[in-house]
Amino acid sequence: MRVPQLEDLGDITGKNVLLRADFNVPIHNGRIADDLRIRAALPTIEWLVNHGANVTACSHLGRPKGKPDPQYSMEPVREHLATLAPSVGLLENLRFNAGEEKNDPAFVKELIAGFDLYVNDAFGASHRAHASIVGPPQFLPSAAGRLLAKEVEVLTGLRAQPKRPFVAILGGAKVSDKLGVIDALLDIVDSLIIGGGMCFTFLKAQGYSIGSSLCENDMVDKCAQLLASGKSIHLPSDIVALGPGGKIGDPSAGGDVRQLGVNIPDGWMGLDIGPGTAAEFSDVILDARTVLWNGPMGVFEDPRFEAGTRTVAQAVAETKGFSVIGGGDSASAVKQFGYDDKVDWVSTGGGASLELIEQGDLPGLVALRNASNAPA
Ligand code: 3PG
Ligand code: MG
Repeated sequence: MRVPQLEDLGDITGKNVLLRADFNVPIHNGRIADDLRIRAALPTIEWLVNHGANVTACSHLGRPKGKPDPQYSMEPVREHLATLAPSVGLLENLRFNAGEEKNDPAFVKELIAGFDLYVNDAFGASHRAHASIVGPPQFLPSAAGRLLAKEVEVLTGLRAQPKRPFVAILGGAKVSDKLGVIDALLDIVDSLIIGGGMCFTFLKAQGYSIGSSLCENDMVDKCAQLLASGKSIHLPSDIVALGPGGKIGDPSAGGDVRQLGVNIPDGWMGLDIGPGTAAEFSDVILDARTVLWNGPMGVFEDPRFEAGTRTVAQAVAETKGFSVIGGGDSASAVKQFGYDDKVDWVSTGGGASLELIEQGDLPGLVALRNASNAPA
């Protein structure tokens, strides 16, 4: 079975459509800091409305613990959606009900009551086997929205036939979170660039001293194996580090900031790749025909440690290759540095894009393929 598309819903005039979107947007002091995920659902909403459907959207927001919590109210999203798509209703945060994350059949029934059709456009949540993602297609004719379809096309395309050289850049704090995707990527890329907090576990595996930098000691052997695999893995050759007494995110607390090689003294903490590394990484990125980036190179929220991420963002924006940002913090970084319009695809899903690249499928896609109206 194929994943059913909007056209596979048949005549939707006058039908009540439940639209699962991922409106899990960053909200600071009650205001939406970035509405990308809301705007990204508009093509699907417009298609449904223009074809005569009554659309009700639903989403999770943040991680409330299965009961109502005003901190995670959908109200800011509802107000914004009303300006973009006035006819579309929005249910309250799905995770206010414990049945959502537990995929409780009773909650699925409650959710679909009164609806004729279901559309999943929540790419960013389609790696979760939650009630609103995998439940409705068991009971209602269903389809992937335009965003979900496009995300799947772009990201599975990276696995299937990337133009070469294909370079992936991974950052972020933990090797353990990304081990699966590292293994999968090493099979399909020509080079893997590693920066961010997780590079220190690799540097330790190479025998360097890493001071007080982030390290997952139980991952050091695994990193050594990956490095011995003969695959092309690029690691930093210099580091920007914060000295004893310094505080991340608080320059006024003092503490020296220095550029170091890959041996970091006791008490010092590596928080960004150095300028030499940023230049080396840029050369590799600029030569690529396909680029995938997930995870910042350093703690870019602190201006003292943003340069590495900024330089990599610039290279990803300027490469002639097809460039994809795998959601999450790297999507925020390209936006913060003003390069979001210059990359070819900014995924709306962090965890979802990595899982799709790693597994080649997602629970939300499996559910759609099993819907009664899925084409053979
Ligand atoms: C995300 O922002 O990663 C998605 O909306 C999924 O949210 P979750 O990680 O809380 O399941
Ligand atoms: Mg997540």
